[in-house]
Amino acid sequence: LSANNESRGALVVFEGLDRSGKTSQCGRLVSYLEGLGHSVELWRFPDRTTSVGQMISAYLTNKSQLDDHTIHLLFSANRWEKRSMMETKLKAGTTLIVDRYSYSGVAFSTAKGLDFEWCKAPEIGLIAPDLVVYLDITPEKAAERGGYGGERYEQLEFQRKVSQHYKLLKDSSWKIVDACQPLDDVEKQVKEIVLQHIIACQKGKILSSLWS
Ligand code: TMP
Repeated sequence: LSANNESRGALVVFEGLDRSGKTSQCGRLVSYLEGLGHSVELWRFPDRTTSVGQMISAYLTNKSQLDDHTIHLLFSANRWEKRSMMETKLKAGTTLIVDRYSYSGVAFSTAKGLDFEWCKAPEIGLIAPDLVVYLDITPEKAAERGGYGGERYEQLEFQRKVSQHYKLLKDSSWKIVDACQPLDDVEKQVKEIVLQHIIACQKGKILSSLWS
């Protein structure tokens, strides 16, 4: 497959619990796509490099305390500050592989008890992913994988709630991949699914917005 200037890139989002393997799968996928000659970039949210991202990072590492609504809106603002760059890249033909997006925003905040519709509202108008790869793992299995780290949300009971709330967000753009399989098997499935979607976008699939 050669990159074609006329066609747009695909917006591919990875979601899943902490330690579901998103970061390693995203890395492997990007190397693979680069090897095929695609224009591709790896993004992640939260993007801790911006000033909003630094506030989020301080919160996640327990260096600051914030009201649940406030941190929710900061996560959303962190996506909004990248929105126009995202659109420019996609239209220029670059595929974006994104580690977490609005679904994390809603699943984590609703797991704390915030209202579902309230949580979705600030995400409306962001670019809708062409594909959401959900790496499906039980919270118990994820915890066994070297254990959770020290960040705020990395606790079994909380991850159980997040897992339940993720399920409410599933729509037709989602593909569920069993993340308990060996890494190489997960990787193989992910590559196949993603390539199909990149081709659909090159053929003119229209870019749309959340949450319609
Ligand atoms: P990370 O480990 O992928 O960098 O994500 C940091 C944590 O932030 C992770 O526990 C998920 C959580 N999170 C939210 O609560 N809301 C969001 O919008 C995003 C992107 C992540």
